[in-house]
Amino acid sequence: MANGELKELGVNGQSDAASFAGVKRGLSVKLLLLTIAFIMLAEILIFVPSMANFRNVWLRTHLDIAESASIVYLDTADERLSEGASENLLDTVLAKTIAIRRDGRSQLLASSGAPSQIVAHIDLDNATPFSSIRSALEMLFMAPETQYRVFDQTRALGGEIELVQEMKHIQAAMWKYARNILLLSLLISVFAAALVYLALYRLIVLPIIRISSNMDAFSKEPENASLIYKPSKRGDEIGVAENRLATLQTDLRKTLQQKQHLADLGLAVSKINHDLRNILASAQLFSDRLTSLPDPTVQRFAPKLIRTIDRAVDYTKSVIDYGKAVEAPPNRRNLVLHSIADEVRELLGLEQNSKIKWQNDIDQMLEVNGDPEQLFRVLMNLCRNAQQAMQDMDADDREQILAVCAEAVGSDIHIRVKDTGPGIPEHIQPKLFNAFQASTKAGGTGLGMTIAAELVRAHGGTIGIEETSANGTSFKIVIPQNAAE
Ligand SMILES: Nc1ncnc2c1ncn2[C@@H]1O[C@H](COP(=O)(O)OP(=O)(O)OP(=O)(O)O)[C@@H](O)[C@H]1O
Ligand SMILES: [Mg+2]
Repeated sequence: MANGELKELGVNGQSDAASFAGVKRGLSVKLLLLTIAFIMLAEILIFVPSMANFRNVWLRTHLDIAESASIVYLDTADERLSEGASENLLDTVLAKTIAIRRDGRSQLLASSGAPSQIVAHIDLDNATPFSSIRSALEMLFMAPETQYRVFDQTRALGGEIELVQEMKHIQAAMWKYARNILLLSLLISVFAAALVYLALYRLIVLPIIRISSNMDAFSKEPENASLIYKPSKRGDEIGVAENRLATLQTDLRKTLQQKQHLADLGLAVSKINHDLRNILASAQLFSDRLTSLPDPTVQRFAPKLIRTIDRAVDYTKSVIDYGKAVEAPPNRRNLVLHSIADEVRELLGLEQNSKIKWQNDIDQMLEVNGDPEQLFRVLMNLCRNAQQAMQDMDADDREQILAVCAEAVGSDIHIRVKDTGPGIPEHIQPKLFNAFQASTKAGGTGLGMTIAAELVRAHGGTIGIEETSANGTSFKIVIPQNAAE
């Protein structure tokens, strides 16, 4: 049965029987056996007192019959019964003797010979539940030919009535009762166990089989969206587990997709980089030749061109080492930050007459200990974002300013990049420094801020939004100067 149901639950035609090959004795079998065992135990606990009760009722019934007969016969004023009547009565109450004891005097009413081998004296009037249980169990296993005395109070006769009976009669009755009870108990426990089992199977085992077969299938194909668990809308603990599983699988799938995206991108970058390096090498060659031309404009721009191409070649070299996902550690030295900011302006093409006003507020004497190339890239990414944000703004009369300033605070250098752009959209602020997640531009990759943050962290520093609103944005970078320590 379980196998058939497992097959039905199979996801994408996978055999669940195969998935559960490792399961030795299934949860359902354990559950069935345990339910039967517990219900049988409960039945035994009920069986023992009911056995004692049966014995008491049996004895009392026989005493009652004897008592009724005694009342009739004693009323006829005969002290003893006739022989025929005595035999009939003794047969009816399955007794050897019937006696009445009153006023301290014992009176034998009927007898078929002297009592012998009396092994027990049962006082029904003073029987407690515990003594009844013990005595009933003992009587079950006594020799059938032994006899016992049983007596009880009788109100009608004003004394006690007493029977001597052979063990075999009550034993036969008790064994028959035990057999019936046992059979009934078995039937009840199997029936109840089946019900409990079915209920638990549907409520717990089946959902667990569904969950684990889904986990199995999902772990083999985590990128397959159709394998994400569909929770059953239950409100109990299993429902919660189902919801958590579905969320977990959705998150895992997203993460894997991101990883895949990164891997694909890494490969693409490496390929592009490879060929770009060859092209840059040619450009380097040509630009070197330019320096020999006497034209003053060429003389002015050629060194900048050479420097820019050199920088590009350095980048491609570092990317070639694509096995490393992290940036090289900073090669620190003392540098003049003012001139690095000026280089950024040149590369961004922000001339005196451009729409965006450039302000380099960094003290020309301020020296910063850091990697010039990396700090250049940090400023470049921040300034380019600011420039793009302001360019994308609807034309309004507001003056567009891009300002860079820096100051020494204790042993740190605080650098600020401020713009009068439209501010960073609120929804991307929490993920601004996460790769590929924050870009709002067509053609933007969402890597600029990630790179900037990584380079700042490599210096032991921090980067964050200091302020952003519809009036503009300010980024603050802190570069510790004693990071080497
Ligand atoms: N100064 C700023 N003003 C307004 N928005 C900004 C500013 N700086 C960053 N942003 C927003 O943050 C987003 C993420 O910037 P990030 O530099 O990481 O990626 P990108 O510029 O879109 O792409 P690229 O990887 O090419 O730099 C931008 O798309 C932009 O929406
Ligand atoms: Mg950018």
